Amino acid sequence: MTFRKIEVLPISGNIGALINNVQLNDLDDETFAEIHQAWLSNCVVFFRNQKITPQQQINFAKRFGEIHFHPYMKGLDKYPEILEIIKEPGDGYTFGSVWHTDQMFNPKPAKATMLYAHEVPSKGGDTMFSNQYLAYEALSQAMKEILTEVKTFNVGDGFRRGIGKAKRIDRYAKNPTMRAKIRNPGNIPTEAVHPLIRTHPETRKKSLYIGSHTQTLHGFHNEEADSLVDFLRTHSQRPEFTCRFRWEPGSIALWDNRCVQHKALADYDEKRRTHRVTIAGDTPI
Ligand code: SIN
Repeated sequence: MTFRKIEVLPISGNIGALINNVQLNDLDDETFAEIHQAWLSNCVVFFRNQKITPQQQINFAKRFGEIHFHPYMKGLDKYPEILEIIKEPGDGYTFGSVWHTDQMFNPKPAKATMLYAHEVPSKGGDTMFSNQYLAYEALSQAMKEILTEVKTFNVGDGFRRGIGKAKRIDRYAKNPTMRAKIRNPGNIPTEAVHPLIRTHPETRKKSLYIGSHTQTLHGFHNEEADSLVDFLRTHSQRPEFTCRFRWEPGSIALWDNRCVQHKALADYDEKRRTHRVTIAGDTPI
């Protein structure tokens, strides 16, 4: 693929690319179209040295679609579209530190997520991403056929299994800043059944759609589903499907939740502060 306006440099063999020659506060339509194309091809893209205001971050996000509001987490008072993710020294809980795809518990999960780094630790605090097209493609033909009609059951809180077993409010106890942002979702749905193999609405490619919100397989006994879910979650994180991004202040990552899982690494004890904006998606098919 050739680009006229931007430079696109892959950061690993199978997922992720750094986009150079761009200031996101001043984007013409041709540059945006190239960024969009590079994003679809690489699943997650990264920008360095960006200086944008909260409103400019929201404006850039809106070029991809409507803003999705987190049902459990309050945004900034002045910019409710932005969830400020903070970890302070001494905090024992890291937001997003299990492999997942954003808002999978919603009937219309997030299409994309944009994370903008303001303060980063001197070491650690990287984010990992895993290519779920490849996770699907690497399965045997026999397994693909078995999984074709299977659906997952996903929840946003009170997990049956995995590290999220405690309620969100208890899990976040060791990070008071994030705990203070928790809100009651009210009547916003927080449980959803989705196809385990989904077709990307733009690339038309199939991907494995699973993550930490997945509690079981719809219609299966838990005992039947558990070992399959465990296998698929482990398979979906194979190192050769992944890349790892080292943050700097001013870095932005933009990932496609329809074909990517991600995980924030909990390997640091310094302040890290990022601004996250999430873009609304469609019903997975
Ligand atoms: C998230 O899962 O949205 C947070 C990722 C990160 O902080 O690196």
